[in-house]
Amino acid sequence: MSKDDFDEFVNKLQKEIIDKELKEFNERIIELFHNPRNWGKPPNDEITESHIYEGSCGDTMQFFLKIKNNKIEKANFITDGCGATVACGSQITMLIEGRSLEFAENLKSKDIEMALNGLPEDHKHCAELAIRTLRRLIEKYKYKKN
Ligand code: FES
Repeated sequence: MSKDDFDEFVNKLQKEIIDKELKEFNERIIELFHNPRNWGKPPNDEITESHIYEGSCGDTMQFFLKIKNNKIEKANFITDGCGATVACGSQITMLIEGRSLEFAENLKSKDIEMALNGLPEDHKHCAELAIRTLRRLIEKYKYKKN
């Protein structure tokens, strides 16, 4: 196969992948999936609390929060889940950074869904996985503090 043929093959494949994603997800989800904000585990001295949680589908989500005076100064995440899960985790971190713990623990999966301009019916549980992980992290943090 010549270089030109190979490039054409790769371009065609990429277009097929993007077309398939666009059928399943909206542009906001695809953008966050390909370019997730706040992805990755920060250095240990920047983590006040972390928590990993397994959802009903077997995928996991993990959040890392830096908390000071009841305020979330920094939020990061990782997941081995689907594209929608990556978008949900990323969206949550953007919503909670700079906000209070109370704000974060009152977030609902509907809020994530709205911020993402909607989730397909068969991926609504991805937002639920992100919300449950966050709530458990905050419960753990509060329990340790008391
Ligand atoms: Fe498992 Fe999205 S399919 S969390």
